[in-house]
Formats: sequence, structure tokens, C-alpha cells
Amino acid sequence: MITIKNLTKIYNSKNSNVIAVDNLNLKVNEGDIYGIIGLSGAGKSSLLRCINLLEKPTKGEVLLDNLTINSTTHNIIDITKLSSNKLREVRKQIGIIFQHFNLLMNSTVYDNIAFPLKLNKVPKLSIDKKVNELLELVDLKEKKYFYPSQLSGGQKQRVGIARCLSTNPKIILCDEATSALDPSTTDSILNLLKLINKKFNITIVLITHEMDVIKKICNKVAVMQDGKIVEEGLVLDVFSNPKTEISNSFFDKNLSIPNSLKDKFYPNIMLKLTFKGISATSPVIHELSKKFEVEFNIICGCIDVIQETQVGSLIITLNNDLDTINSITKFLKSMQVEVEVINFD
Ligand SMILES: Nc1ncnc2c1ncn2[C@@H]1O[C@H](COP(=O)(O)OP(=O)(O)OP(=O)(O)O)[C@@H](O)[C@H]1O
Ligand SMILES: [Mg+2]
Repeated sequence: MITIKNLTKIYNSKNSNVIAVDNLNLKVNEGDIYGIIGLSGAGKSSLLRCINLLEKPTKGEVLLDNLTINSTTHNIIDITKLSSNKLREVRKQIGIIFQHFNLLMNSTVYDNIAFPLKLNKVPKLSIDKKVNELLELVDLKEKKYFYPSQLSGGQKQRVGIARCLSTNPKIILCDEATSALDPSTTDSILNLLKLINKKFNITIVLITHEMDVIKKICNKVAVMQDGKIVEEGLVLDVFSNPKTEISNSFFDKNLSIPNSLKDKFYPNIMLKLTFKGISATSPVIHELSKKFEVEFNIICGCIDVIQETQVGSLIITLNNDLDTINSITKFLKSMQVEVEVINFD
């Protein structure tokens, strides 16, 4: 659906040039809810804004599938090469949702949602039908004639989502869409995005610095640092086995052991076990102790649910010779448990 090739975005100013996106490649498939996570300043918003050309890339291609321009549907178009008229057509098919809602404060909920349709000169009756359908979808029928100042943050974001859906987009870009909301309102907005993704098969790219957002609705994730993607994949894989330090800081918070505590267990071997899906619900540890008669000490553990799959982690120490540890590791892997030896340095 979206293929980004060698994308670079440099902001030039008198005193400095900032490389916000650095030769980045990314592929998002149709139907994905693709999360991009990174610290502040990583370049997430710059990347997102390059996808609909709100920012003009300095270099690179933004290839989009299956877009309609002048009633012709194109397989693949590089939107960086389009004229401004054609780009306007493309933008109607890419919705965007902002952290601070960006609503028209002097217009009612109804008029905010109707705004893109009026711009596109849609007949009044069709606008009325569409807006009423969308009010129903986002559960704001009762607030139709309210002004944004009379709405809660969550309700404002529902208006933002309805407005974005009014032009029947194929792609929705969300820039920190829930960062200004409390946890339970965040959940309801994320559920709405998930519903939209499933019901209308809309591909969603969302950026966030909150791991919980990724865990709740994304199927894929990319971790961004200094304008580059340093790790990407299925959320379940990246979450349960992060490979870079930055991913670890997002995905592995619950199980980081302070070095001072690690020293306490030296010279025992410390293993981190990750259980996913079937292995999370089977009595693996019981089998292990029966088979090897090992004595182990559980240091810490946690369980999470990602994409409706359980993922558990457990850190244990063992006082065995290396051969036994190797056999144990082999056995655990055969039970689909990921095993990592934790170093003491
Ligand atoms: N319009 C601009 N002009 C100059 N520099 C900019 C501009 N927009 C962003 N930058 C710089 O580009 C870098 C990336 O910014 P960007 O807003 O893309 O990061 P981000 O990952 O979205 O951060 P945050 O999580 O804080 O929103 C930063 O160093 C920022 O200062
Ligand atoms: Mg940002």
C-alpha cells in the first residue's frame, strides 16, 4: 500500500541543517495498522508528513498503491512526482488525525465533519447523509450541534476521526492521536481506529512514543531513532525479542535487572525465557524440572497480551554445568520458548 524508498527530509535554516529523516525505507501493506515508535525528535512526524506530502521530501520516493486520480485507478504512483492538482486528488484518499485535533473552533461538530465534503463541492443532501452516518459511527449523534469547546478531548478526537473518514480515505495517518488523552479515553479511541481498520479495510500508519498504543492495536511496528528505522517487524516478534537498545527501552521495561542485583546471583547462570502463544499456556517449567531435576530460582516475571496473544517473560538463575545448561536451552527451544543468557557485565 505504501512503499517509502530512500526518503530523506532535511530542514534547512540559516544556521543549521537538520536531517529529520535519513535515507529511510519502509513498506506498509494494505490493511496494516503500522506503528512507528520513537523518542521525541526521532523524526516520526516528519516521516508521517512526507507520506501525504504535507512536507516535501528532500530526496526519495513515496509510492502508493491503488489510488484513483481523475477516475483512473493506478497500481503504483510516486506521489513526489505529481502535479499539485493530482496531489490534491491523492490527499483526499489519505486522511490525517492530529494530536491536538485541529478542529474549526467556530464551527459545530456537524460543520467540522462536513467541511472536507463542502470543499469538494459534494451536494448538500449527500453531505447530510454522510455526516449523519459518521456521527452514528463515532457515537456523537447527541453532540451534532455542539461546538468543539463544549466537547471533551476524546469527543474532539472522535470528530477529528469522523472528519477524516468523510472523504472515504484508503489510508489514515495518525500523529500521536491519543497523546493528549487519559488512558480510558485512549482505549476507546484506539478501539474506534481498530474498528475503522477492519470495517472499511483502511490502512493506518500511526506514530507514538507510547508502547501501550502499539501493543493494543498495531500488527507491525518500526522503531525510529535519529531519522532512521533501527528495527521493524511483527509487534509480537519485536516486543518479545527486541534487538536494539532503543527497542529494549520501549519493550522490555518490566524485566530490566539492575546490575547491582545481577551481581548477587553471580556465578549462577541467568536465563531470560520468553513464552509466546502456545508455550505461554503450557506447563513448560513443570516439564523442565521433571526432565532435568534442576533447581532454579525465579528472579522476576511478567505477562502481557499483544494482538490477543499472551507473551510471558521469566528470568531464572540456575546453578548447573554448561553441558546441562545447553541441554536445558535445547529442550526449552523445542517447547517454543525463546532463551537468552543474561550477561553479568
Ligand atoms: N519545520 C521544521 N523546521 C526545522 N526543523 C524541524 C522542523 N520540524 C521538525 N524539525 C526538526 O526535525 C527533527 C525531527 O522532528 P520531528 O517533529 O519529526 O520529531 P518527532 O519524532 O515527531 O518528535 P516528537 O515525538 O517530539 O513529536 C527535530 O530535530 C526537529 O527539531
Ligand atoms: Mg512528532
